[in-house]
Formats: sequence, C-alpha cells, structure tokens
Amino acid sequence: MPLRPLSSWPQSLRPLPVSLQPFRLRSCTVARWAGALALGASALASAQGAPDGQLISTQGANGAPACVTCHGAKGEGNAVAGFPHLAGMGAAYLAEQLEAMANGSRVSPVMAPTAKALSPAQRQAVAQYYAQLPSPLNIDRLAATAQQPAKADDTGAWLANRGAWDKNVPACNQCHGPGGIGVGANFPSLAGQPAAYIAGQLRAWRQGQRPPGPLGLMPAVATRLSDAEIDAVSAYYAGLPKAADLLAAQATPAAGAKP
Ligand code: HEC
Ligand code: HEC
Repeated sequence: MPLRPLSSWPQSLRPLPVSLQPFRLRSCTVARWAGALALGASALASAQGAPDGQLISTQGANGAPACVTCHGAKGEGNAVAGFPHLAGMGAAYLAEQLEAMANGSRVSPVMAPTAKALSPAQRQAVAQYYAQLPSPLNIDRLAATAQQPAKADDTGAWLANRGAWDKNVPACNQCHGPGGIGVGANFPSLAGQPAAYIAGQLRAWRQGQRPPGPLGLMPAVATRLSDAEIDAVSAYYAGLPKAADLLAAQATPAAGAKP
C-alpha cells in the first residue's frame, strides 16, 4: 500500500488521540478532520478506513494487547525476555508472519491470540508501522564483523560467514546480509534477536511448525543443521551487536567510547 511512513508526519500529530482511531469512526467524520488538519496523504488513507498501525502498537485492538508491552516502545524487542525486534523488518514479511500465527501454520502460543484478534487490515497496518520504524541495529558495525576471518572452531561464526558446504548449507549471511542485518523485504535481520528465539524458529522449521517461506529456503537450511549447530549459530547472532561494538571500539577507541 502506498502509505507514507508515519515518521514523515509532523511530531505534534503522533500519536493520535484515542478518539481519532479511524476504524472506530465513520469516514465522513475523519474526512472532515483530515481536511481541517491538512494531514496529507496518510490521513486520507485513514479517512478511507485504513487502521492506524501505531495506535495498535501502543494500545492494542479488539482485545489484543499493545505490542509495545513486549516488543518495546520502538519495536526494539527484549533480548532478556526473548521477544524479537520488529523495527525496520520488511512489511510483507511481518504481515505474513502475523497471518501465519493467526491461522496456526506458524505455531506460537504467545502470539496466536493477538494475531487472531486483529483483522487482516489491522495486521497489514501494524506490519507497515513496524517496517518504517528505524532498525535498532547498527548496520555499519554489524557489516564490519563479516570482514573478520571466521575461526574454524567457532561453529556459529563459521556457519554465519562460511556455511557448511559439505552438507549444502550456504553461509547464513549470504541471504541475511553481512552481520545478519537483513536484506530487502524477504530476508529478515538476525543480529540481536534473542538466541532462544532464533533457535526456536530453526527447530520450528525442522518440525514443520512454521510455513516454509520463500522457495522453502529455511526448511532446507534448518533440517541440515545439528542441534549443536543451531545453538551455536543462534548464540552467535544474538551476541553480534555487542561483538560489533567491541570490534568498532578496538578499531577506533574514540568512536567506540560511545555505544
Ligand atoms: C505477551 C508478549 C507479546 C505481545 C503483547 C506481542 N507479541 Fe509479538 N511476539 C512475542 C513473542 C514471544 C514472539 C516470538 C513468537 C514465537 O516464538 O513464535 C513474537 C513474535 C512476533 C512476530 C514475528 C517476528 C519475526 O521476526 O518473525 C511479529 C510480526 C509480532 N510478534 C508482532 C506483534 C504485534 C503486531 C503485536 C501487537 C498487536 C505483538 N506482536 C504483541 C510476544 C508478544
Ligand atoms: C538461501 C537463503 C537463506 C539462507 C542461506 C539462510 N536463510 Fe534464514 N531465512 C531465509 C528466508 C527467505 C527467511 C524468511 C522466511 C519466511 O518468510 O518465513 C529466513 C528466515 C530466517 C529466520 C527467521 C527470522 C525471524 O525473524 O523469525 C531465522 C532464525 C533464520 N532465517 C536463520 C538462518 C540461519 C541461522 C542461517 C544459516 C545457518 C540461515 N537462516 C540461512 C533465507 C535464508
């Protein structure tokens, strides 16, 4: 959908008051406000009845809890609790995941009730909202980690950067980007996701508890990995933002002083 990112809205208009929730209002009312407030393209989309993704994230909808409670105020996730970051990931990817968790093809006891409570349009809107938030990742620093030679006895780093070609597993970074920063709309970022979350997804593919995704690429990868490899590569990506900061600090002590 050609919605302008919410970030391009004037700060004073974010977040909209509860009473402006577009899906609770008749469009003529919103249209009048939109005109009066000169909100531009985004508001006109709202005026036509499109749900507001930001409102869903801060307040929930249809009984679904606010996403910010678990995924953080900026979609940055919560590593300790095991909640993945969402900010800056592809909109189509996020919407598909919500769809899959709603219809049960992606098994997620925590997310299923929330995903089901949202309408398809609400899932789209909240996915769009998270996609346009700035990624919590330091892209340059993470990418620099991929320039480091991987040690053969460091299973996680080796899989991420070199793969396991003896069993046809390409390097994870070949699809997920240098340092696992994510590529385009279909290859989600891995860096900084909680280790338990990454491992959980790989095991879900092995057990048929998550849809195959584009070209069935991930089931092909996950079914070829041993348990030890899954744990190693998950720990590697979870710890990569810290490792990237350390690397940057070693390269330029001054720049590394502020994280
Ligand atoms: C109670 C905590 C909680 C709340 C509230 C919550 N989530 Fe989640 N979310 C999770 C957990 C845990 C996972 C990982 C699920 C899994 O292991 O399958 C997740 C996963 C996701 C994913 C998949 C991410 C990926 O990288 O594939 C999306 C998308 C998502 N949540 C969106 C939302 C949205 C949108 C809302 C608000 C409407 C929301 N979540 C509310 C805990 C929560
Ligand atoms: C050939 C390309 C390719 C390779 C190589 C690859 N992946 Fe993926 N990966 C994907 C695609 C595509 C998706 C999105 C799947 C979907 O849409 O459900 C994905 C998704 C994931 C996810 C889910 C992320 C989330 O937010 O839920 C994890 C975890 C993951 N990959 C880990 C790995 C690991 C670890 C490796 C290396 C051992 C790897 N991938 C190698 C293509 C690849």
